[in-house]
Amino acid sequence: MEPYRIKVVEPIPVTTRAQREQALRRVHYNLFGLRADEVTIDLLTDSGTGALSAAQWAAAMAGDESYAGSRSFFHFRDVVQDLTSYPCVLPVHQGRAAERILFSALLTPGQITLSNTHFDTTRANVELAGCRAVDLPCPQAEDLDSTEPFKGDIDLRRLEEALRGPDAGRIALVVMTLTNNGEAGQPVSMDNLSRAAALCREHAVPLFLDAARFAENAWLVTRHEDGYRHLSPRQVAEQAFRLADGCLMSAKKDGIVHIGGFLGLRDRSLAERCELLLIATEGFPTYGGLAGRDLDMIAQGLTEVTDPRHLQARADAARHLARLARDAGIDIVEPPGLHALYLNAGRLLPHIPAHRFPGHALACQLYLEGGIRSVELGSLYLGREDENGTPVTSAPYELVRLALPRRTYGLSHLNHVGEVLAATARAKERIPGYRLIEQPSLLRHFRCKLEPD
Ligand code: F0G
Repeated sequence: MEPYRIKVVEPIPVTTRAQREQALRRVHYNLFGLRADEVTIDLLTDSGTGALSAAQWAAAMAGDESYAGSRSFFHFRDVVQDLTSYPCVLPVHQGRAAERILFSALLTPGQITLSNTHFDTTRANVELAGCRAVDLPCPQAEDLDSTEPFKGDIDLRRLEEALRGPDAGRIALVVMTLTNNGEAGQPVSMDNLSRAAALCREHAVPLFLDAARFAENAWLVTRHEDGYRHLSPRQVAEQAFRLADGCLMSAKKDGIVHIGGFLGLRDRSLAERCELLLIATEGFPTYGGLAGRDLDMIAQGLTEVTDPRHLQARADAARHLARLARDAGIDIVEPPGLHALYLNAGRLLPHIPAHRFPGHALACQLYLEGGIRSVELGSLYLGREDENGTPVTSAPYELVRLALPRRTYGLSHLNHVGEVLAATARAKERIPGYRLIEQPSLLRHFRCKLEPD
């Protein structure tokens, strides 16, 4: 049962199949091009799409909009310090701004960053700083069907090899992404995080958490990791932050706000360098590109998000949707996490080759069938072709992510998604692949144009 009731409602658009067909044609079969008014259930992302609590709206009214020294900042800073233990807290407008500022201040061209998996903006910001981002996911992550609980871990053997290897002098930092969004939202165990932290300490390499979903990671630790079952998610989260030298945070996820983020740091001289970049590019350090009310809403969201009843409800919702998908005959990346379900489109649509994008085909079909927007994570996102259109690389898996916004959709919405999954799977042989007709040179999935094959 969701641990809240509804005080404010927002109608959701209901469209006909003919309208959806027309909309898809208009946007050249790219779901990013749809108007939100054309989407009935929007599972594109869990980022900035959650519902605020009454206490967060009340906090917004109490926000102090002073340019410098705002009361909201000190409240926000105290809440973040209490959770993370980091003395320096810099607000930013969202997670990728924290990435850009930290990497600009810390990295020099030619250096290397290591991670369990860099999220794509994290990788992009490392590369923009002239450095190389290397992912070291654990071997269990490769088996999509395995139900091992901590497939988000970093490969400790390869981490140690890298830290001792010939390129060790160029390793600037290690980022642990909790939960590991690039590996189907799988969590990281505290055992893995502690060992990674010990290796980083031994080799004097700073360790940062990409903490966007820190509470969801902590919840899964309390459920599945021996030695942590008696702790609350909040206690586990506090321990996790204390193992690292700082964090990058997109508050649009586990801050349960529509916009905002922060950079948390132990190193005061690094924080001073970051602060200069913050002032030049985001805003004065007591607001960092946000309104005062945003800071108060983040502070309140951070205290609500570790409530075990909130996390339990999210886990239950993801498990329920996972059951509906399996019942429909659609395999998912196991085990289901909290922020999203990942459908194995490659296995569902074996008649569509990687360069005709089975994940994209499934995502388009879910929209046509029931107005559901999801996102492809397969060869449209990761693959490349040469100038003649011949595929050069394809993705290791063809997946579709159904992200679950926080506190936004209820059981009946998920049941609608389940019915659409079932109808889609029943007619799977008739689902066409898609051909790329136009693509930009960078981040093509956002803006490319396609047509049914
Ligand atoms: N780190 C992780 C793990 C993320 O999932 C995201 C965003 C970011 C950093 C960047 O944060 O959007 O506030 O700038 N993920 C969103 C998603 C976009 O849909 O998974 P941001």
